[in-house]
Amino acid sequence: MVRNYTDQPVDRQILDRIIDAGVSAPSAGFSQGQRFVAVTDAEQRNAIAASAHEPEYVADGFDPWISQAPAHIVVCTDRDAYLARYSEVDKMGPDGTPSTEEDWPVPYWWVDAGASMMAILLAAVDEGLAAGFLGSHSLDQIHEALGIPDDILVVGIVTIGYPATDRRSRSLARGWNDRDEVVFTNYWGNDRA
Ligand SMILES: Cc1cc2nc3c(=O)[nH]c(=O)nc-3n(C[C@H](O)[C@H](O)[C@H](O)COP(=O)(O)O)c2cc1C
Repeated sequence: MVRNYTDQPVDRQILDRIIDAGVSAPSAGFSQGQRFVAVTDAEQRNAIAASAHEPEYVADGFDPWISQAPAHIVVCTDRDAYLARYSEVDKMGPDGTPSTEEDWPVPYWWVDAGASMMAILLAAVDEGLAAGFLGSHSLDQIHEALGIPDDILVVGIVTIGYPATDRRSRSLARGWNDRDEVVFTNYWGNDRA
């Protein structure tokens, strides 16, 4: 994740290729519930930055990287698209009842949005750009500023631009996990390896 960008705008064709990577990400039952809003307008980017408390990042020593990023992609998910898809005849359970949110041990609308988010990050890097994901604690403000319908769930924002000197996340001081604490073979844990 990069949290500083130059002023150079991102060509719309390049941005569209990056968005297409998100659109092309897998989805459960090919529900295709991922939704995207590309934001290039400075006023709209400022509204997103405000909703994500950008001044707090700046106070923490980061650049105003959200408002400064020439492009944002707001990643959203349409949960109802999943419930509708999984109410179709080839996806309904044996009792033939329509899908409800409670049926989902893993809510794939979040999973697929995450896959799109990652595809977007990788596509941006592939285009020679830099990107960073952020969440906002004021999603209502984003709905309001961007006119996103209430039933569309905002997952977060990917900032995109040409990289400037970056200050790395302080979280990285945690260091990487030991691989053998997180990767197992055939059985959870290392006792049976
Ligand atoms: C789900 C998710 C939410 C994140 N939210 C934020 C955020 O709100 N602000 C931010 O600066 N970084 C955010 N990050 C970026 C992480 O801080 C960053 O990925 C992590 O520190 C590892 O750094 P690296 O991706 O540069 O290796 C988020 C990352 C993920 C995957």
